[in-house]
Amino acid sequence: MAHFNSAHRLFNPDWDDAKNFEVFGLCSNPHYHGHNYELEVRVTGEINPDTGMLIDLKWLKEIIKVEVEDKLDHKNLNIEVPEFQKLIPTAENICIVIWQWLRKSLDEQYDLKVRLYETPRNYVEFPAE
Ligand code: NI
Repeated sequence: MAHFNSAHRLFNPDWDDAKNFEVFGLCSNPHYHGHNYELEVRVTGEINPDTGMLIDLKWLKEIIKVEVEDKLDHKNLNIEVPEFQKLIPTAENICIVIWQWLRKSLDEQYDLKVRLYETPRNYVEFPAE
């Protein structure tokens, strides 16, 4: 489980503020706002017979830190994270971007699933089942 605090604003530049508010509610606040995101990463695959382990958890933890926490923690997602210059930083899109970052670092033999909580009760998963 990893976590990061990030600010965002959900808005579609093709719409005016009223339409953005109608669709995104408080998350369209032009002055941005933050969330405490919680991340669950699920890696599945074959156990390595030499080690008896699926994956080196210390290594995985470091990859999550470098690929996710360092890029997102205490950041304004819209302004500071290149992936969200054009992509609206909804939980859905953040989840997919995180999956893509982690997928690059993981061996092909592993299956990867990412669950992102934007609030303790709301989460999204990628890939969806
Ligand atoms: Ni929000």
